[in-house]
Amino acid sequence: MKIGVISADSASESRVAITPDAVKKLRKLGFEVVIQSNAGQAAYYADELYQAAGADIASSSAEVITQSQIITTVNDLSAEAIDGLSSGQIVIGMLDPYRNTQLDSYAAKGATAFAMELLPRTLSRAQNMDVLSSQANLAGYKAVLLAANEYSRPFPMFMTSAGTVKPAKVVILGVGVAGLQAIATAKRLGAVVEASDLRPTAREQVESLGGKWLDVPMSAEEAETAKSTGGYAWTPSEQYVKDQAAVVDKALSNADIVITTAQIPGRNAPRLVHGATLARMKAGSVLIDMAAGTGGNVEGSVPNETITTDNGVRIVGAANIPSMLAAQSSDLYANNLVNFITTLIAPAGDDTSVSDASAKLALNVDMEDEIQGALAVTHDNQVRLAKR
Ligand code: NAI
Repeated sequence: MKIGVISADSASESRVAITPDAVKKLRKLGFEVVIQSNAGQAAYYADELYQAAGADIASSSAEVITQSQIITTVNDLSAEAIDGLSSGQIVIGMLDPYRNTQLDSYAAKGATAFAMELLPRTLSRAQNMDVLSSQANLAGYKAVLLAANEYSRPFPMFMTSAGTVKPAKVVILGVGVAGLQAIATAKRLGAVVEASDLRPTAREQVESLGGKWLDVPMSAEEAETAKSTGGYAWTPSEQYVKDQAAVVDKALSNADIVITTAQIPGRNAPRLVHGATLARMKAGSVLIDMAAGTGGNVEGSVPNETITTDNGVRIVGAANIPSMLAAQSSDLYANNLVNFITTLIAPAGDDTSVSDASAKLALNVDMEDEIQGALAVTHDNQVRLAKR
């Protein structure tokens, strides 16, 4: 049984879904692997490394699709690739399910498409398949380095004979996986860090990393809602949004670096930094908007562009930071995929006369399984995604 690896669109994506190391793991499980030529090039994995790991190289995505039972990808497939799918084939990737306009096409082809973003986060046996965490962790780290690079002063305090250099003041808005890693990285570089999130449980995590919690007042009813949303953001009241804007305005008028990470699964990112606040910020200060690809936390941010406001504030629209760390983010993403693929294998029978793992290999696609059922956005010619 073959697993195929499709090359991402090189203009916007440097990651690859399966690395040479992951090829070895899949071969051990009994799969054969075919990879589109040069799919790993931008992540520094040349075709020769895949061949040495036991993969075949195919010259086009069409060739990969024709040969494979399971097709792996970083992002959504192109319309042309979907057109080449046939009934029963499996597609696994970060398919951006709530904004994906091609789900009907996957369903029409009879493909089972698994969107890795839909993984139940709190299920302990699924944690090694959590692509949102593996990628956000790296992105939070790199966001701080991007900010340090854009900023015209250092992060740590220095005592020099020419004078004392003050530490940078960093504000992080949104303290999920990326935000926590950003706090840890900024602290390691010597910055003074403040952070906020609408989940009150994030306070303890911020403080344990040495950050200062920016508190936004919350009604008793909101505090109850926040507790019951299973760790995800809740919809704040108008009063909360107003109070939050005042807290953000005060913190940012003093900040040197701001990193925004706030996302709401299935919806546009919340707007946390408005034009009036930007106008009060210091010249030379830097904002990294990690939600730029989903609508932006910062007013005026543009995906994949850095803009400078009239008062000298730089806004970096960081739409796809994991792609900037393509080698490492591909390693972790590929591990997540291999772990998920392992759950698709039917338990081996007790036929001891067959010693070859590949001869025993069978798939068990089961919508009753809590992981598969959560990830499958199309199956049996149906779109299965509930609207948000
Ligand atoms: P995310 O990428 O969906 O959002 C980032 C952060 O922005 C979140 O902390 C969210 O609360 C915050 N946010 C959203 N709207 C906001 C607003 N209007 N104002 C302020 N902050 C806002 O989050 P991520 O990193 O995917 O984590 C989501 C949740 O899942 C978190 O509670 C996280 O702790 C939890 N999680 C649990 C895991 C586990 O139990 N194994 C693994 C990974 C995450």
